[in-house]
Amino acid sequence: MRLLAQPGCARHTSPQQHGNMAAHWAGRRLSLLSLILTKRGQHVPLCCVYSPRWKSSGPSSLQDRQREIMARGLPKQKPIAGVGQVVVVASGKGGVGKSTTAVNLALGLMAIDPSKRVGLLDADIHGPSVPKLMNLKGNPELTETNRMIPLTNYGLPCMSMGFLVDEEAPIVWRGLMVMSALEKLLRQVEWGSLDYLVVDMPPGTGDVQLSISQNVPVAGAVIVSTPQDIALLDARRGAEMFKKVHVPVLGLVQNMSVFQCPNCQHQTHIFGSGGARQLADTLGVHFLGDIPLHLNIREMSDRGQPVVISSPDSPEAEAYRKLAAAVLLRIQEVTV
Ligand SMILES: Nc1ncnc2c1ncn2[C@@H]1O[C@H](COP(=O)(O)OP(=O)(O)OP(=O)(O)O)[C@@H](O)[C@H]1O
Ligand SMILES: [Mg+2]
Ligand SMILES: [Zn+2]
Repeated sequence: MRLLAQPGCARHTSPQQHGNMAAHWAGRRLSLLSLILTKRGQHVPLCCVYSPRWKSSGPSSLQDRQREIMARGLPKQKPIAGVGQVVVVASGKGGVGKSTTAVNLALGLMAIDPSKRVGLLDADIHGPSVPKLMNLKGNPELTETNRMIPLTNYGLPCMSMGFLVDEEAPIVWRGLMVMSALEKLLRQVEWGSLDYLVVDMPPGTGDVQLSISQNVPVAGAVIVSTPQDIALLDARRGAEMFKKVHVPVLGLVQNMSVFQCPNCQHQTHIFGSGGARQLADTLGVHFLGDIPLHLNIREMSDRGQPVVISSPDSPEAEAYRKLAAAVLLRIQEVTV
């Protein structure tokens, strides 16, 4: 696939030039992408996304950008149509198990109360995980009003950037483009009516986290951390960012803390116990629970069969259901 910025493209001149680019994309795929890539209501053809103009614009560092966004004041938060409580799953650091936690938390919420309607939004635009974890792929259908219908597996409706862009496609979206895609993932999805929308956040405390916290009323944030000190420091950064933007921190989950032997279920605290509990105390946030480090969690996640569904009787599935119950309790506490 050739995705070169064409000379006249950034100024949106010749329709033929855009037509050339469109030829690289099948019709429906293009319409979905162009639906996402809009700037102030105008369609931005795909070729423009790759224009150096987009890459070079904007403030030099993330900190500058964050300061600039904060300085503009908090934008008015608008609920997502049909969605009750939004719960974000976040961490200061990558690879701590946010996506695995988000997927099993969403399924855990459904498991403990089947009457509740739950959805899952993958807000990791650069590295979406939900398609693989939920064994879903393909383009969402569009409603008559051009809203995207989530893909559903295990009864859980899901939306992810991964449904809209090929896995091999280079996702070199930056700055405004990311925000524009995010806006569409937040606003242009036909969720129907949901009690809870679980949002799998990208790692860190960047633009996406700020943007979601500022544009959508978030019921609370679940911070995922592993027990190593450095990860705990990052968890602290994550929790503090949400406090700053007035999103209630529902609490801290410690992931991969206890090694559970697949043969005898014996548990070993590899990193020592209590790190996240202590951090939760220091930060004045709740401790929501421990998720064991278990081969089954990794293997089943890789196969797109989350443990809450594939091994509902296992201790690890029980850990996720307990987490879901703790999250529900905290939502009630923070929303009274
Ligand atoms: N409790 C667990 N036991 C065993 N493996 C786990 C556990 N939690 C997560 N993993 C594995 O760790 C890896 C990273 O998990 P995951 O993708 O959920 O992290 P992440 O925080 O979402 O990463 P990123 O920051 O890249 O989005 C995956 O291979 C996943 O299967
Ligand atoms: Mg992830
Ligand atoms: Zn053993």
